[in-house]
Amino acid sequence: MAIDAHGGKLINRELTGSEREQALEKAASLTSLTLSDWAISDLELIGIGGFSPLSGFIGKKDYESVVHNTRLADGTVWSIPITLSVSDAEAANFQIGDSIALKGQDGKIYGTLKLEETYNYDKQLEAKKVYGTTDEAHAGVKKLYERGDVNLAGPITLLNRPDHGDFEDFYMDPSETRKMFEDLGWKTIVGFQTRNPVHRAHEYIQKSALEAVDGLLLNPLVGETKSDDISAAVRMESYQVILKNYYPEERTRLVIYPAAMRYAGPREAILHAIVRKNYGCTHFIVGRDHAGVGDYYGTYEAQELISQYEDELGIQIFKFEHAFYCTKCENMGTAKTCPHDKSNHVHLSGTKVRELLRNGEKPPKQFSRPEVAEVLIRGMQENEPIK
Ligand code: ADX
Repeated sequence: MAIDAHGGKLINRELTGSEREQALEKAASLTSLTLSDWAISDLELIGIGGFSPLSGFIGKKDYESVVHNTRLADGTVWSIPITLSVSDAEAANFQIGDSIALKGQDGKIYGTLKLEETYNYDKQLEAKKVYGTTDEAHAGVKKLYERGDVNLAGPITLLNRPDHGDFEDFYMDPSETRKMFEDLGWKTIVGFQTRNPVHRAHEYIQKSALEAVDGLLLNPLVGETKSDDISAAVRMESYQVILKNYYPEERTRLVIYPAAMRYAGPREAILHAIVRKNYGCTHFIVGRDHAGVGDYYGTYEAQELISQYEDELGIQIFKFEHAFYCTKCENMGTAKTCPHDKSNHVHLSGTKVRELLRNGEKPPKQFSRPEVAEVLIRGMQENEPIK
């Protein structure tokens, strides 16, 4: 039997067919609100059930409970507030009970919100509790500080899904991935979150997990990321190349996760696990400094936090120590499996890797598969701004 969605039921807030047509027609005459790409991706994930059990942007009671207790008001584990923040001036356009047309930056209507509540919130407190820091140099906290001061809350309806351009072939909603796993006969599936190209350490932990389950869902995040992360387009090409050359086709699937990256480390690891559970994964990988940025989180803080909620989450967490290539073992390993001292371990910082790639140099093959390095070099030279 497939794993239950978080909260028990996979949410579907999307209208289709004539219901959708009528709703779109009605929405065209409503007062509208223009959302950021980030908010549109949240709308989409609520609509397709990726954020089950959420059925809308959360209200004050849930918000405070999530911030303080890592739970929704009814006790269900939830780690990051999914809110729709607007300015005071924007909020003044709406009254409780209104239906609001939610438009994207392109002017298209993506859905509607039935406004149940508006409330102010304390950004510093949210930063401290959810991100573990109030430092605006933190990429996620910076985005939080840029938000409007008022949250609009209420259930949403999804009327149009955002266009995923070149990634459309790799787009599936949670009901579709669940069906795919069933069709493939996979009973146990490990989900892998990443915002980076797959390097040897990623490959090692994915394959270690794959030894114990039926299938791997490589589920890269392709929504908004900070500007010095490698672009989703280049990464998607690199994923296809590595899968084709080094992974068993019948045991691996690539599907995009169309969310924005929050860089909230431990709290985001919980969100990432919940979403993958909703997509039908029975297992989820949390390695070193999951969803971290800079030095804000301890190497294993995400593993420690998620361990407290693992029983309730119902998805099993594969926790991996920092993986590396050891020149003595001539193999990948971690401190758990390799007895040699650090001087034998191939380590490269993200900055160092980017520098090599920008200069057209491949990182050592102990770090990155040459086919992946080639894609990244080309991508860096064609698309990436010089940093
Ligand atoms: S993340 O921000 O999306 O988590 P990243 O793509 O770096 O970033 O990591 C994807 C997953 O691989 C995370 O679970 C992370 O903890 C894990 N990971 C990354 N590098 C290593 C490594 N060298 N050893 C062990 N786990 C790693």
